[in-house]
Amino acid sequence: MEIYLVGGCVRDQLLGLPIKDRDWVVVGATPAQMLQQGFQQVGKDFPVFLHPETKEEYALARTERKTDAGYYGFECNFDPTVTLEQDLLRRDLTINAIAQTLDGKITDPFNGQQDLENKILRHVSVAFTEDPVRILRVARFAARFAPLGFTIAPETMQFMQQMVANGEVDSLVPERVWQEMVRALQESAPEVFFAILRKCGALVRIFPQLDCLWGVPQKPQYHPEIDTGIHVMMALQQAVKLTAKPEVRFAVLCHDLGKGATPKDQLPSHNGHEERGVALINAWCNKYRVPNNFRDLAVKVSRWHLHAHRVAELRPETIIKLFQGLDAFRSPVNLENYLLACQSDATGRGGKQDSAYPNAALIQSAFAAATSIDVQPLIQQGLDGATLGAAIVRARAKAVQQSLK
Ligand code: CTP
Repeated sequence: MEIYLVGGCVRDQLLGLPIKDRDWVVVGATPAQMLQQGFQQVGKDFPVFLHPETKEEYALARTERKTDAGYYGFECNFDPTVTLEQDLLRRDLTINAIAQTLDGKITDPFNGQQDLENKILRHVSVAFTEDPVRILRVARFAARFAPLGFTIAPETMQFMQQMVANGEVDSLVPERVWQEMVRALQESAPEVFFAILRKCGALVRIFPQLDCLWGVPQKPQYHPEIDTGIHVMMALQQAVKLTAKPEVRFAVLCHDLGKGATPKDQLPSHNGHEERGVALINAWCNKYRVPNNFRDLAVKVSRWHLHAHRVAELRPETIIKLFQGLDAFRSPVNLENYLLACQSDATGRGGKQDSAYPNAALIQSAFAAATSIDVQPLIQQGLDGATLGAAIVRARAKAVQQSLK
């Protein structure tokens, strides 16, 4: 049997990037031979094995043919006559279809190295169109590599547009959509992921509540960029500068969804968009099985982002309600995440990208004041239950008022 390194590790090594996982392809072997050598089979549908010591993944070379719509509609052939070239041919991008032997010899039948050199994301063959997840993968790789200057080959974009027009995106499993999106959010240019999905028409299929924000105007005195979709992407870029946490970046992505549901006659005002956004976020998160911690923060940020911008106008009791709503007394990290999202929103506007956001420090010191009150004297007064709760809120509000003076 012959063994080659393939996929992301070869690509990343050629790009001079750190290597995460090493994936191997095995040519000329049968599952029985692999098991005999102590490999452990992990793939139920595909012949994938774990190395007995390194636990790295070894896949038998295979060809695939689409037989039906959806994730499982593939016929897979992995008999030992499948060649390395045939295996590389079924892969998504030329830069992911380069193989390397242990002693460093490269096999590159589809000119992946040339595409790496020219910074092009290009499909390998028409087999690209058989897997709609690849639309999301290409957008994700674009989000990762755009800062290095990579672009998508026009003919690959055409394939993506065609696939969307054929309804391919509609058969994606919700978990895969989320998995790709959350990975894209962690890349250095996640806004490129959304730009590519818009360009090929996939965004309106998978996230219409986001897609419809382009073309929705906002008041120019607060938003010189005017367009809500542009603002959200600018805010996302700010979030990338501020934090690596994907849940904060997701909350920023969703913070203005409510603006897409503003009645036309109220534009460019968006009174009440904060609460309108909550239902939209919940609906999308249900559909795509988004983990609760992502959804909870997104809902909180949608509901309360204006509070942070207007903290100077808020009554101390309202600030306490904000802390309670964020569940910050139990989980102070909620406040930290909320403020990161609010700062991204405030500075993700035309001309504001380098501005400070003093409200964050102000709110943090109000929170420190609120948490520093001593409840013992209140208990010693004999207060309990709801009366004790109300007295704590009053004491906290007083402390907040003093901290903001
Ligand atoms: N692959 C593919 N089509 C897919 C998924 C994977 O062709 N839908 C192939 C590609 O050759 C890819 C390899 O399988 O390089 C390994 O896939 P994966 O580990 O998901 O991605 P990587 O390319 O290693 O990228 P990442 O750095 O994101 O892990």
